[in-house]
Amino acid sequence: MLQDSIAGLEAEISAQELATAAQLDAFRIAYLGRKGRLADLFDQLKTVPADQKRAVGQQLNQLKQAAQARHDEAQQALEAATANQPADAGYDYTLPPVPHALGTRHPLSLVREEMLRIFGRIGFSVAEGPEIEDDWHNFTALNFPENHPARDMQDTFFIAPPAPKSPLDAADSGAPDVPLLLRTHTSNVQVRVMETQAPPIRSVMPGRVYRNEAISARAHMMFHQVEGLFVDEGVSFADLKQTVYYFVNELFGADINIRFRPSFFPFTEPSAEIDITCLICKGKGCNICKYSGWVEIGGCGMVDPNVLENSGIDPEKYSGYAWGMGIERIAMLKYQIKDLRLFTENDLRFLRQFEAV
Ligand code: DAH
Repeated sequence: MLQDSIAGLEAEISAQELATAAQLDAFRIAYLGRKGRLADLFDQLKTVPADQKRAVGQQLNQLKQAAQARHDEAQQALEAATANQPADAGYDYTLPPVPHALGTRHPLSLVREEMLRIFGRIGFSVAEGPEIEDDWHNFTALNFPENHPARDMQDTFFIAPPAPKSPLDAADSGAPDVPLLLRTHTSNVQVRVMETQAPPIRSVMPGRVYRNEAISARAHMMFHQVEGLFVDEGVSFADLKQTVYYFVNELFGADINIRFRPSFFPFTEPSAEIDITCLICKGKGCNICKYSGWVEIGGCGMVDPNVLENSGIDPEKYSGYAWGMGIERIAMLKYQIKDLRLFTENDLRFLRQFEAV
């Protein structure tokens, strides 16, 4: 009987799962389509006795509406769910990421940090001071007498004080009444450290320095130094030598020779220049070491008692040693770099050869 078929189809329809587009399609074709199961039953209406036709027809219509409603609801739900997904839903999130392009450390940073680490291991802590400096800290306190030719050893960039806007402003322009300059060496920080700290002092002072030089492969108007200062009771030149030996052997290895060549600096007495075996030719002689087999890496000496006194430390009680080394010079030896200008030109072909960050 048709009524039984209707009941059976009703049960079948409500058992269908309508979660995917494919299931929806199949449902529509199987039950609602022109050749579907419902159309089939509508065809059979003509076999129903006339007195029952109306009731059975209503039943069939209700089933058709219910089936259509189920289909439409499921379709809306599916559309809403897909609309909330990102547009690139087809993207495979398990793929490995494209690596970021990493930078490399600048060779001067690498060398500076290695130098500070080596001195740090024997108790030196880092101090810093200003690059714009006054004459006292860059020269006078360091025992450079006024108008003494030693000041010409380092061609200085002086900073012109701001011009007063009008003669009335001149007295009150706010400009410092001491001449300012770009520090020519990191030795200014020695004075600043001694002014503010009591011995024992063990400091390393890295920084940038400036000199009025024409730029070439071997000279620059801006470069870097690491200054060192040790002040305590009973410090001798033997302590200085031992510290320099330790540093050079840590940085370059045990087979490097070191020599102290007598020299002059106003702030040390006695003074020496530190030479090491030329690393380019291993001491045989080349154009970098001017065929001497030695290259200079810095200056050093016993802190002049005048400098201690100028900085507020009693030279009767304390003595000290100091040094100043060029970071560029050491980086050139370590990495066999032959032109100072490479450090500041930012050529990626040069910079990419160094350690990654
Ligand atoms: N300030 C010197 C320069 O720039 C280097 C130097 C020499 C620093 C001897 C020192 C030192 O502390 O004791 O040429």
